[in-house]
Amino acid sequence: MGSLTRRRLLVAAAALPVLPAFAQSRPLTCGELTGAQTEGPFFKTRTPLRASLVEPGSKAPRLVVAGQVLSASCKPVPNALLDFWHADEDGEYDNSGFRYRGHQFTDAQGRYRLVTNVPAEYPGRARHIHVKVQAPGKRVLTTQLYFPGGRVRLRRRGLT
Ligand SMILES: [Fe+2]
Repeated sequence: MGSLTRRRLLVAAAALPVLPAFAQSRPLTCGELTGAQTEGPFFKTRTPLRASLVEPGSKAPRLVVAGQVLSASCKPVPNALLDFWHADEDGEYDNSGFRYRGHQFTDAQGRYRLVTNVPAEYPGRARHIHVKVQAPGKRVLTTQLYFPGGRVRLRRRGLT
C-alpha cells in the first residue's frame, strides 16, 4: 500500500507542479496565481524545521507531497518558506505539541518535498493539508492542498 500511495501522489505532484496547485481542479498555467484559502483555527507558530512529519506509530498511509514554488512569471523561488500543518488519522489537530506540523525551505530550484501520514477527513471538510508559503521578503500566502478525487478516489484505491 505504501508504494501505491507514494507513486500515485508523486504522479499527482508531477501533473500539478505549482504549489499549491492541489487547491485547483487543474494544473495552473504560467501567470495564474494560487488562491488564498482560510487559515482555520489550528495554525501554530514556531513549528520545527523538518521535511518529515511522519509519526512512527501512525497507521495512516505514508504520503509524499512534492512540488515547486514558482513566481508569477514562472521562475523558481529558492528559500521560500513552507509551513505545513494538518489533522492526524483521527481528524484531530495537535494543539499542545507539534505533531503534523513543520516548516521547510525550498531548494535552489524552488522545490520542496514533504513526507507525512495521510490526514483523516473531519466533519464538514474535504481531506486537506494547510500550508503557509512565503517567498523571501514577500507577503505570506495561506492556502490548503487537497487530494485529487477526494474521498471517493482514495477509497477506491484502498487508501482509507
Ligand atoms: Fe484544517
